[in-house]
Formats: sequence, structure tokens, C-alpha cells
Amino acid sequence: ADPIERALESLRAGEPVLVHDAADREGETDLIYHADAVTDDAVGRLRNDAGGLICVAFAHEVAEAFGLPFYTEAVDHPATAGHDLGYDERSSFSLTVNHRDTYTGITDTDRSLTIRSLGDAAANPGETTFSEEFRVPGHVHLLKAAPDLLAQREGHTELGVALADAADLSPAVVVCEMLDDETGEALSPDDARAYATRHDFSYLEGRDILERLG
Ligand code: 5RP
Ligand code: CA
Ligand code: ZN
Ligand code: ZN
Repeated sequence: ADPIERALESLRAGEPVLVHDAADREGETDLIYHADAVTDDAVGRLRNDAGGLICVAFAHEVAEAFGLPFYTEAVDHPATAGHDLGYDERSSFSLTVNHRDTYTGITDTDRSLTIRSLGDAAANPGETTFSEEFRVPGHVHLLKAAPDLLAQREGHTELGVALADAADLSPAVVVCEMLDDETGEALSPDDARAYATRHDFSYLEGRDILERLG
């Protein structure tokens, strides 16, 4: 089957997909699930098999509906000035959150509750009072997509939200970088592909998503 269609089908089925952005960008492969589908075991997989930072990416409009700013705009500290990332114009980080029914917020159960609830909230922004359901700071990093999505930025934030849109799912995905346990570096595309093959998961290159959905 067509690799993009297969990936959309996986997301709809609650399975993860792997997305490598580009060798000349981060050069990272993120393990991505639709937020609604996240279980305790899925958080365990993100922690153990991916190993990077567990983040939930929202479409720009969803983040706006909840009054969620970019981190750099929200925090008035000199370290947020002069955003000199090597790979992009700006970071997509927003606030960090926990669902209010979590205890510490970090366990697989707590993080899966937070992530699934973020998925529910994104499906119906009008019906959620964000501050009643979530507290800030927390243990899940929110990412806010660019207003014009892939036309403006080609990060995992936008690639993941674009896949959710194309799958007719709500625009909220959980993403986590895959790291190499031996070297501590980003997992190589070859190794990421091998992991995908081993588990029968989809693996996509950012450029393939950009060609079809950009
Ligand atoms: C947060 C990150 C990740 O790379 C994540 O994929 C979001 O960033 P981007 O949209 O820039 O790829 O750094 O852990
Ligand atoms: Ca590991
Ligand atoms: Zn990324
Ligand atoms: Zn990263």
C-alpha cells in the first residue's frame, strides 16, 4: 500500500508511526501517536524505545482557543530572547501541563491520562475550559504548530499535526525523539527504519509528507 495511506491508517488504529524530519534539519526520527490513542503502554514505549522528550503537538488554532502561547512569548526572562536555534527559526514549545487528576504527573498512567485528555480537548476546543482540566507547569510539553502549518515550518510539530489532519483525526499528536541507547545520539535513519520494520510500524520521511500534504 501507499506509505502515507498506511501511516494514516496506523494513526487511526492507534498505532505509532515514525517520522524522520530531514538530514539538514534536526536529523531526528520521532515516534508519533494520535493523542486520543495513547495508553499507559504507549507512554512506556515512548520512554523505553524512543527515549527523547514526550511532547503533545496541537494545531495552532487549538492552542489559540485554549490561550496557550509560545513559551518564548509567555516567559519574560532574558534567556528567552535571541532565539538562535541551529535548525529552525524558532522553537514550537508552548507550556508544560498535567491533567488535574494526576498525582506526580510523571508515571505512565499519569502521562497517558494527560495526553489522552489533551486529545479529547483538541477534538472539541469549545467544550473544554482548559484551566479547569489542566494545570501548568506539568510533565507533558505542549508544542504549538505554525499558523500556516507546513507552508511555514517543517518540524515534527507540523508534520505530525498534518498527518492527523489528513487522517481526519483531531489535530493533537504525541511525539518523542528516538535516541540511540549506545551512543546517546539521535537514532540513525537506518536504525529507525529497522525498528519500524521489526514492529511493522510505518516509517516516513518528512519530504514525502511535504510532497503529499505540504
Ligand atoms: C521537542 C523537540 C522535538 O524535535 C519535536 O519533534 C518538536 O520539534 P520540531 O517541531 O522542531 O521538530 O525538540 O522535544
Ligand atoms: Ca531505550
Ligand atoms: Zn523534532
Ligand atoms: Zn528534537
